[in-house]
Amino acid sequence: MQRAWHLRSWRDFPILQQPSYPDLLALERVEKTLKSYPPLVFAKEMRSLQEALKQASRGKAFLLQGGDCAESFENFSADGIRDLFKVILQMSVVLAFGGRCPVIKVGRIAGQFAKPRSQESECVDGVEVPIYRGDMVNGVDVNARQADPQRLLQGYHQSAATLNLLRAFAKGGLADLAEIHRWNLDFVKSNDLGQQYENLAMQITQALDFMQACGVADLPTLKETDFYTSHEALLLHYEEALTRQDSLTSQWYGCSAHMLWIGDRTKGLDQAHVEFLRGVGNPIGVKIGPSATLEQLLGLCEILNPHNEAGRLSFIVRMGSALQEKFPPLLSGVLEAQKEIVWVCDPMHGNTIKTRSGVKTRSFTQIVQEVKDFFAIHRAQGSCVGGVHLEMTGCDVTECIGGSQAITEETLQHNYHTQCDPRLNATQALELAFLLADMLKHNARMTVG
Ligand code: PEP
Ligand code: CO
Repeated sequence: MQRAWHLRSWRDFPILQQPSYPDLLALERVEKTLKSYPPLVFAKEMRSLQEALKQASRGKAFLLQGGDCAESFENFSADGIRDLFKVILQMSVVLAFGGRCPVIKVGRIAGQFAKPRSQESECVDGVEVPIYRGDMVNGVDVNARQADPQRLLQGYHQSAATLNLLRAFAKGGLADLAEIHRWNLDFVKSNDLGQQYENLAMQITQALDFMQACGVADLPTLKETDFYTSHEALLLHYEEALTRQDSLTSQWYGCSAHMLWIGDRTKGLDQAHVEFLRGVGNPIGVKIGPSATLEQLLGLCEILNPHNEAGRLSFIVRMGSALQEKFPPLLSGVLEAQKEIVWVCDPMHGNTIKTRSGVKTRSFTQIVQEVKDFFAIHRAQGSCVGGVHLEMTGCDVTECIGGSQAITEETLQHNYHTQCDPRLNATQALELAFLLADMLKHNARMTVG
C-alpha cells in the first residue's frame, strides 16, 4: 500500500541533482509567484497525448520527440523555434508517408532548461566554480554560476512565449499540408536529402490535388496538427508550483509541459522525482541507462503506473554500446510481466564521445546503429518500438560527426553552438527520418492486436 501523495510529499524523500540556493526565502517568493501564474498546458491536452501514446505502445502510431539538449535564454528567437518546428513536421511526413504510421510530435522545448550533471563543480582557469546546470538554474558564464531562483521566472516566461508561437504554428497555417514545400529549410534544399524530401513532398502535393478534385481535401487533420511539449522534470520546486488540479476529474497535472520525464540519474524508486511524478496525470517518461535492473523497471511500473494504463509510461532507453547486451533481458522481463510501456529509443545519450581536442560530439553512424539495434531487439521479441527521442535543432550546426554532409572532427568547430550536448542538425535529422521510415514498415506488435 503506497503512502498518500500530495503536492509536497516529494519533500520527504531524498533528492538528487538540485541546485543549492543561497537564499531560501527568495526561492519561496518565486514559488509563490509561479503558483499565481496561469498553467502553460491543459489537462485535456495531456489526456489526448496519453491516448495517442497508447496507440504508439501498440505500434499504431510513432512518437517523434526532439529538440535542444538545453534551451537557452540568450539564443531565444522566433526563427529558432520555427526552424525546429519545420524540421519536426518534415520528419513526420517522411515517417508517416514512408512508414504508413501516424506521428506524435513532441518537442523538447518550452521548458527544457535544467540539466542533471555528473559533477558538482569544475575547474576553470585554476578556479573551482559550481557546474552549469541549465539556464533556469545558473549561467554558462563562469561569473554567473550562483543558482538564482529568479531564473525560474524567466524560464516560465520564455516557455509561455515559446508555446504561444508553437500553438500558432500548429493551428494557424504553417502546419497545413499545403505548406509542405515551405518546411524544407533553405540550407537543406540544396543538398541530397533536401532533394529527396522535395520528391516526397511532390507526391503528397499530387495526392492532395487529387483529393481536392474528389472534393475531400477539407479535412481539419490536413490543415493543422497537434504539437506537444516536454522536458525533464528536474527542478521540483518549479514543477510543484505549476501543478494544478483539473476541475473536471480532480486529477493533478503538472502544467509546465504535456509530457514530463525523469532523468537516468534521478529515477531511484525511493527518491523525490519518482514520488512527485507518480501523483500527476501527465504522460511520464523515464530515461533508462545501462545500469538499470529489471527489478527497478518493474518497480517504476508499479509506482508510476499502478493501473497499468497504456500510454501513461514511456521508457526512454539510452544505452549506447551496452544496448545489445543489457536491453534484451530487461525487455523480455517487462513483457513477461505484461506491463504497458511505450518503448522509446534515445540513441543520443549513450553515444556521447570526446574528440582528441576535448570537444563533445556524437557519431551519426553510431546513432543510426543504436536505433537499428533497438528495432531489431523489439522485433525479435514480438514487441514494437513506440518512438524516438532526439537531441536536434533546425539550425545548420556542426555538432555531430558523420551523416551525408560528412562532418568530421576537424570541421566540428565551424558551427558548434550547443549549450550542453551535441545535436543533430536539420539535414542529419532528416536523413535519420528517411532511415527510420524504412524501419517503421516492419514495426508491429505481434503479441497484442
Ligand atoms: C538529457 O536528456 O539531456 C539527459 C541528461 O538525459 P539522461 O537523463 O538520459 O542522461
Ligand atoms: Co542531453
